Amino acid sequence: MSIAIAVDGPAGAGKSTIAKILSKKFNLNYIDTGSMYRGVTLLAQRNGISADDVEGLCSLIKSSQFYFFKDRLIINEEDVSEEIRNPNISNKVSFYAAVPEVRELLVEIQKNISKKYDVIMDGRDIGTVVLPQANVKFYVTASPEVRAQRRYKELIGKKLDVEYDNILQEIIKRDYIDSNRKANPLKKAEDAIEIDTSSCTIEEVVEKMAYYIENSIDVVGD
Ligand code: DC
Repeated sequence: MSIAIAVDGPAGAGKSTIAKILSKKFNLNYIDTGSMYRGVTLLAQRNGISADDVEGLCSLIKSSQFYFFKDRLIINEEDVSEEIRNPNISNKVSFYAAVPEVRELLVEIQKNISKKYDVIMDGRDIGTVVLPQANVKFYVTASPEVRAQRRYKELIGKKLDVEYDNILQEIIKRDYIDSNRKANPLKKAEDAIEIDTSSCTIEEVVEKMAYYIENSIDVVGD
């Protein structure tokens, strides 16, 4: 059976940075499921499909090919990895990610990927819905202020004109929508290990998580 590591938590907690490092360390495929919801949002925006047009969204997803090449997301042969990070996508993605039919289709793709490959998958519903059988489940958190500060630095580094207060408000709003939606809300799985990254370095967090992974993969290999 393939190896599956689940990493859930709110936006900006450090999931993707940590999961990418762990994917190299343990030779796993890194699957960023948030990028898939962002990809759907990008396609929908380009095609003028709103979040309440469920039929339009479903046929858009069904007629599109999603795949990961290393940590790049390719949709219909186009590398959309940069464009899906733009603030205009970040501000809208929660609304598209809240549509149950959209989630159902993307969860199916994610489950299929995990059947074929050893994965470390990051998202919001990985431990609870996508990979309930995961070898290890992590729930990675940090305070909203720490997360906003990190996002601010990242976007400033990309020369985007952003303000810290706006980012903090966006994060608080996004947490609320992600945690309160009816379909697959952001929630810690009962058997997930909680990791608070507010006052830890990336190296410290990686070391801690690697310890759990090493032990669980050993157990599975026995
Ligand atoms: O991790 P991110 O910021 O790139 O996620 C983008 C959005 O997608 C965010 O609003 C949460 C949502 N998402 C989700 O609902 N389920 C997932 N498995 C991953 C992300």
